[in-house]
Amino acid sequence: MIENEMDFESRLSAPEYTSEDNEIENSLRPKQLSEYIGQEKAKENLNVYIQAARQRGEPLDHVLLYGPPGLGKTTLAGIVANEMGVNIRITSGPAIEKQGDLVAILSNLESGDVLFIDEIHRLNRTVEEILYPAMEDGKIDIIIGKGPSARSYQLSLPKFTLVGATTRAGQISAPLRDRFGVILRLEMYKPEELAKIVKRSSRILNIPIDDNGALQIAGRSRGTPRIANRLLKRARDFAEVKYDGIITDEAANEALASMEIDELGLDAIDRRLLMTMVRNYNGGPVGLETISAAIGEESVTIEDVYEPYLMQIGFLARTPRGRCVTPAGYQHLGIPFNGGNANDTQQKLDL
Ligand code: ADE
Repeated sequence: MIENEMDFESRLSAPEYTSEDNEIENSLRPKQLSEYIGQEKAKENLNVYIQAARQRGEPLDHVLLYGPPGLGKTTLAGIVANEMGVNIRITSGPAIEKQGDLVAILSNLESGDVLFIDEIHRLNRTVEEILYPAMEDGKIDIIIGKGPSARSYQLSLPKFTLVGATTRAGQISAPLRDRFGVILRLEMYKPEELAKIVKRSSRILNIPIDDNGALQIAGRSRGTPRIANRLLKRARDFAEVKYDGIITDEAANEALASMEIDELGLDAIDRRLLMTMVRNYNGGPVGLETISAAIGEESVTIEDVYEPYLMQIGFLARTPRGRCVTPAGYQHLGIPFNGGNANDTQQKLDL
């Protein structure tokens, strides 16, 4: 392992879900739309659709949620089920390997149930084909047997609501996307919203924290509640051991500094990514695969996990010729911006 490298599971500021999140996330998940903080636009629309469906006594139309990881897609699916007064069945694209797996799930749903498929862009094509008629007319066609003795049967399903979630809306096939009646984009949270989430979580988990402590954590959570809740737990450890148990500004500061999370929430890997681009490729443009090889992280991880936040705060730009560190990114690293290097030979090799 390269010195200073953290493995992915232990990266405190990774928005990906880890087993440690399970216990806290479940206790912290709001159950009702009114308890859910932020995502005002998505919430407002969803509220109307839920009320309308309930008034008509019908299941909610299929919903596609998209946006970066850790923003509360699973939580929203749970809220939809709860507000509609139905059960939720949770699965994910990669977990459904064969058509039969999906047939088994669909045929066990009860009328009105919510089926949540996380990472729906990773469903394979043959499985997706079962989903189309199921979403559209509540029917599935199954073929039993092979060759001349094969028989086709049609199975009627109870009405259900599919809630699909993806970090990659662009990778969803057009026929699947077209079958969702409601498409909602989740945005990164503002620091004030994250501070409210941190306060709410600390009340539920009985963690003493003051307003400034909550704001410190919120400001360094990369717009992501999952990260905010994780940092809250770690800051509690510091507060208990080194400061009277209360997460003050000072306690939060020390905790975050010890975790090498800077004022903007960048961790050692983010800084290494930017620094490598600056030092080795003169700030870009440089291709994704080259960055991936240089820092030893998979390119999908760089695209889905690191880049969205670095782009959001304006430190990194995706250009047709490759990735570039922006002047603001240079400034954050404390390196004078030299105008980049559009004619870099590495860039020609990459593109
Ligand atoms: N916990 C995680 N996400 C949340 C949200 N959006 N509102 C309230 N609590 C949360």
